[in-house]
Parts: sequence; structure tokens; C-alpha cells
Amino acid sequence: MAKKLYIESQGCQMNEYDSSRMADLLASSHGLTRTTIPEEADVLLLNTCSIREKAQEKVFSELGRWQRMKNARPDLVIGVGGCVASQEGEAILERAPYVDMVFGPQTLHRLPDMLNQHLLQQRSQVDVSFPENEKFDFLPEPRVEGHKAFVSIMEGCSKYCSFCVVPYTRGEEISRPFDDVITEVAQVARQGVREVTLLGQNVNGYRGEHHEGHLCSFAELLRAVAAVPGIARVRYTTSHPLEFSDELIAAHAEVPELAAHVHLPVQSGSNRILAAMKRNHEISVYRDIITRLKAAKPGIFISSDFIIGFPGETDQDFQDTMDLIEFVEFDHSYSFVYSKRPGTPAAEMADDTPDSVKKTRLNILKTQIARNTGLKTDAMMGTVQRVLVDRPSKRYLGYLVGIAENTRWIHFPGDASLIGRFADVLVDGIESINALRAGAPLWVESDAEAQVGLGLPSGRIPLWHEAR
Ligand code: SAH
Ligand code: F3S
Repeated sequence: MAKKLYIESQGCQMNEYDSSRMADLLASSHGLTRTTIPEEADVLLLNTCSIREKAQEKVFSELGRWQRMKNARPDLVIGVGGCVASQEGEAILERAPYVDMVFGPQTLHRLPDMLNQHLLQQRSQVDVSFPENEKFDFLPEPRVEGHKAFVSIMEGCSKYCSFCVVPYTRGEEISRPFDDVITEVAQVARQGVREVTLLGQNVNGYRGEHHEGHLCSFAELLRAVAAVPGIARVRYTTSHPLEFSDELIAAHAEVPELAAHVHLPVQSGSNRILAAMKRNHEISVYRDIITRLKAAKPGIFISSDFIIGFPGETDQDFQDTMDLIEFVEFDHSYSFVYSKRPGTPAAEMADDTPDSVKKTRLNILKTQIARNTGLKTDAMMGTVQRVLVDRPSKRYLGYLVGIAENTRWIHFPGDASLIGRFADVLVDGIESINALRAGAPLWVESDAEAQVGLGLPSGRIPLWHEAR
């Protein structure tokens, strides 16, 4: 009987992408098939996140559960990858000696070898080194299900924001060559993918080798990806306010496949805090990008990341952040209280703001942004939205669900043959705009990634067409 692989992916989309590549690898090397039920797996992999303390804590609690499974089934193989593995290396084994393989984001391509070595020697294997750009050369063609896919265009980060572990866990920033990216996009498009999201920590800093000899910019790459046959919608995440070029803004005006949505992390609206965070730009730069993006693509949706309660953040700094929110009218955000990460420069900074004050600020910010989300969802009433039809709706019998450019899921009646195609849907109803209207305090501090309860427009289709 075919052996089974269970992967739990924590944290960011990069990890999600890496997890699916691990599954591709172990399918081709060891014939492992992926399962969503850990109890029926022969190999368990935990792809970890260390961006905040809470994320890191989850690692050992999950491993504890897996240890109990291994006690009952000693043949079970347990592997730990991702950013916690990268940071802790051998130390993972001290706390969890039952772990058989420890690998980092840059060594996941060595998993088949590590698994073989483990099975042969019956000893734990550790490899969290940073071989440069080697990973992609060893990965098989991706296998995708569904009609949306991630494609990684670069690895690591060299920006060293003072609060962030990523440069230490994922290594220096390095771009994949242009041809490799295009090949992977074409491979997933051939398997039915219509929407790709290009992934990297600073995708707009992309500088990939082009076969014509020059270094390809991100805007040039975007245009080429949008032109791959079958690809009808392109997104990217994450971008950085530095290097947000005129060429990239022009692409938003000129490339119809580019979704009218940009996720552009800003972290804070205060110049003082931005400097302490080592973001290397003033807030005027950010405001200017947003103004020009809105001019290039009227109606574009902007989302962002915020860190609240960075060391030294005053009421005035927080007010500056709220002023920015008013100016930009963010549609959505991933916002968290600052979490001190060992080994980063900010961990040494004096931090005398009480936790309760930080939580109150976070609640104010989230409430404001959730209000924006609701208003922008409301404004979709009566509009025609182009959705990529994803699957049958579980919520309403006989309905399908598709994703709009601004990432709202729209439910509408339709035939299953539409799945994987684009449909134009007239929004004729918006379900349950959140309790905000009643003024209810919505947010409690949590590490939940998806923080905004999006209103669900239900629609009908006046017309539909196929993807080009
Ligand atoms: N490349 C992106 C960020 C990637 S990390 C950028 O340019 O900003 C994803 C998000 O995690 C960050 O945007 C930040 O908001 C959050 N984050 C990172 N380190 C954090 C910390 N120490 N505490 C709280 N949030 C943090
Ligand atoms: Fe982290 Fe800043 Fe890079 S937030 S991922 S160091 S751009």
C-alpha cells in the first residue's frame, strides 16, 4: 500500500508553497501520497514559522501530539522544517529527541536523501545550511490541484528590518532566473491554473538573470507572466515600499491580468518608528506610491501589515498610523502586537509601553480597518465582478464560489462546468456585514492570520466568458 505523507504548514504563503514542493519531491522520490489526516500518515512534516513568539510556541505543542502518535507507532517518521528549524537546528533534537529530520527552507530539496539516511542509519538527520539557489534545481515539476497557484520568484531577504527574523532564517535575498520562473508558471498553467501569485519577501526587488543577458526587473517579469497562455490573473506578495518603481506602477495601468489589489506592508505611519524599524523610507514615500497607484488603477484595493507597540511607540506615533489608515483607506490588514525576536536588533531596544496599551491600540486599528472592509464590500452591491470560479459552494446548495479581484469570495448559482473558468457575476446580495455596525468590540488579541470576517456577496451571473 502506498505510504502517506502529512504536512502541517504554519505561517506564511512561502511556507505553503514550500510545503507543496516537499510533497512533490517525496511523491517522486518515495511515492508518498499526501493526506490531510495525520493519523493515517507514515511521514509527518511540520513546516514551522518563527515570525512571532506565539507562532514559535505552536511548534512544540504540535510535536508533543506527534510524539504520542509515535509512541504507539515507532516507525512513524517525524520531520521539522521551516524557520524555527532553521533557527534552532540541532537544538530541536534536545527538546524533541523523537524528531528524525530537521531541515531549513533552503535545504528542503535534500529531504529524500535525509529520509533515506534516516531509514538506513536509524539516526536523526539535521541539515539547516544555506546552499545558494540550489533548491530549485532539484525540485521536480510542481503538481497542482485547482486553478490558483503560488510561484516563488525569490528567496530570503536582505533588508534586515530591526524587528524581523526572516533574513536570519531564510538567508540573503536571491532571485530565481527569469526562465525558471516562466517555466514553472507555464507548467502550472498547463495543469489548469488560471491565477498565479508570485511570491517573495520583496518581490518588487526582483532582479533575475534573463536569457538575453540583462537582469530582469519585477515589472518586466510581471508582463511576461501575464502573457503565459492560460494565465488570466496575476497577483504578487509581498512588496516593499522601497523599489516600488514607476515601471511597476505603469504595469498596474497597462496589464489587464494584474489584479486590482496590492498588499504593501508599511508597519507604521510614524517616521520616528519607521526609522527605528530600519524600513529606510519616510511615510511620504508610501503616501506617494499609493496616490500614484490609485491614479494608475482607479478603485485598486490596498492591504497592508502593521506592527503595533514597537519599542518606544507613543500615542502620537500610533495616531500617525491611524492618520495613514484614514488617508489610504486600507481594505484589509494583517496586524499584530510587536513580538520580541531573539537575535534581532529591536530585541535590545527599551520597551516601556504596557501590554494593555498595545492591545487597546491594536483593537482601535483593527476596528477601523474592519470598518473599511465592510464599507468596501457594501460598495460591491450592484456591481459586476469578475470571479475565478473555484468550487461548489458548501454554504448554498447548487451554488458555486469564485474569487473576485479584491479577494472576496462570491457565491452564485451555476453549473459545475464553470469551475476553473472566469465568470462575470452581478452582486445582488451581501451577506452579514459584520457586527461592527452595532459597535460591538470585534477583536480580541489572537494570532489568527485571517482576521477580517469578509462579507460574502451572493450573486447571479448575467454573462460569463472563458479565460483567454
Ligand atoms: N517582506 C515583508 C514582511 C514579511 S514578514 C515586508 O516588507 O514588510 C510578514 C509580516 O510579519 C511583516 O510585514 C510584519 O508585519 C510581521 N512581523 C515581522 N516580524 C514581526 C515581529 N517581530 N512582531 C510582530 N510582527 C512581525
Ligand atoms: Fe522582514 Fe523587513 Fe525583510 S519585514 S522579510 S526584514 S523586508
